[in-house]
Amino acid sequence: MLIAITREVSRSIINCELTHLARTPIDVERARDQHDQYESALKHLGVAVLSLPEEPTLADSVFVEDTALVLDECAIILRPGAESRRPETESIAKILAPYRKLFHVEAPARVDGGDILRVGKRIYVGLSTRSDTNAIEQLQDFLQPYGYEVHAVMVTGCLHLKSAVTQVAENTLLINPAWVNKNNFDGMTFIEIDPSESYAANAVLIGETIIYPTSFPKTQKKLDEAGIKMVTVDADELAKAEGAVTCCSLIFNG
Ligand code: GLY
Repeated sequence: MLIAITREVSRSIINCELTHLARTPIDVERARDQHDQYESALKHLGVAVLSLPEEPTLADSVFVEDTALVLDECAIILRPGAESRRPETESIAKILAPYRKLFHVEAPARVDGGDILRVGKRIYVGLSTRSDTNAIEQLQDFLQPYGYEVHAVMVTGCLHLKSAVTQVAENTLLINPAWVNKNNFDGMTFIEIDPSESYAANAVLIGETIIYPTSFPKTQKKLDEAGIKMVTVDADELAKAEGAVTCCSLIFNG
């Protein structure tokens, strides 16, 4: 069975890190309602949701994806690029320890889970303001024994690799080609976002269905036309904190 670790939106989310967005007011209750909707979508798709309590002083802690990479064979506790986010990893390591052998990315390396896209045995790691080549070397050392290939990918204009590209079907990536080059992803087919919806490339794939934000109707139409099944959720409040749907869960085989 698939398990999703999630965490309640922090009351301090208004103090979140922002890199490419201007700060605008965030309605915590609305963000929490939308987060509930997201957890319901996961449950609707048969995922067991392990919902953690809020971390009142860790503004970005709802974005659990950035703390770890969980694979079938092991889990890697990451070292987030923003210093304010590093304390988020401790509790996640405790939660994951009964499920997986743990490795830890060590200083000075920096990597956010939002920069890590797994497609089968290929692990793409975005080189962004949050993630660096030191981390890529450590990930290679941890993962080569399990048969994974780790590939560095240049990302520009957005926070994370998965702001620019995510998987929406077995061999299909949803991509914003303005932020990441398709040539990085050999053998894949692509659905391009509508150019007027820059943030539309982030979707959570569960089996053959995606969880997708309601904010991107033009790209949603393209996904519909491509036959991608989806459950839609409102996610615009957490988007003000520069978070997207993949950011809000760590999903793995339990
Ligand atoms: N606010 C999300 C992040 O910057 O990590």
